[in-house]
Amino acid sequence: MQSTLHPRPPAGLHTGIIMDGNGRWAELTGRSRCRGHVEGARVVRTVVEGAPPLGIGVLTLYAFSTDNWKRPATEVRSLMRLLRVFLRSETERCLENGVRIEVIGRRDRLPPVVVREMVAAEGLTARGDRLLLRVAIDYSGRDAILAAALAGPTSRREFAWNLDRAVHARTPVPDVDLLVRTGGERRLSDFMLWESAYAELLFTDTPWPAFTVRDLESAVKEFHRRDRRFGGLQPERTAPRSVVRARKMTATLPDAGLGGLSGVVTAHEPRR
Ligand code: FPP
Repeated sequence: MQSTLHPRPPAGLHTGIIMDGNGRWAELTGRSRCRGHVEGARVVRTVVEGAPPLGIGVLTLYAFSTDNWKRPATEVRSLMRLLRVFLRSETERCLENGVRIEVIGRRDRLPPVVVREMVAAEGLTARGDRLLLRVAIDYSGRDAILAAALAGPTSRREFAWNLDRAVHARTPVPDVDLLVRTGGERRLSDFMLWESAYAELLFTDTPWPAFTVRDLESAVKEFHRRDRRFGGLQPERTAPRSVVRARKMTATLPDAGLGGLSGVVTAHEPRR
């Protein structure tokens, strides 16, 4: 368990992405499932680079859920290898681009070599102040909530701290503003359940390996079109500062169109 918490994440929207559809994309294009994940990792790189200009300050990517251990051993091995290689090969680039890497989730079941890469990447990029990239590995939103609840009765603020500690998050982050799921399914699959209480949900049929920065731009533009009330009535007066800042940044972007994006309208609530 980590004890040092960074004071704050980079300013901007907190966007979460459930990167789904690698397997189906591979099948459709006559490749192996593992190849689909490799293409998925390539997309991660482009999305990480494209996120800050869109006003995204925190990007949380769902790379491996606790339920993904149920997959065939060969696929799990290949995913673990991919994550290790990604962390090693992208650290330098992240360092140069001001991207702080953090891995959230359980660490005790991961291959030690993956944990070593995670710790190295986190240490080397710790000063990144342009984007906080959180990669969720062996992550379960429900397990995190349970662990925080078992830590004892407490205030909402302390509960959020316990939640961060449960998944080894070093930087406390604001609630999720925008949650995108690729690949056509319309569910949360145990991803940031507490943090997404008032997130705007956006679903696209595009499989993750075919997702582009332009799609992310469309998602952010759609987010800004939503009327977020956080249970109240006057969105302009209650919008969190990160949202106001991101809105200003995207105001100058051309409208990329919605493509395959569709959403579920929600409201919002003040930050925890
Ligand atoms: C879901 O697609 C995707 C995963 C379980 C793994 C996600 C991993 C990556 C995108 C690549 C590695 C990530 C990083 C951060 C380097 P699926 O396999 O369930 O697709 P399907 O539903 O079409 O079968």
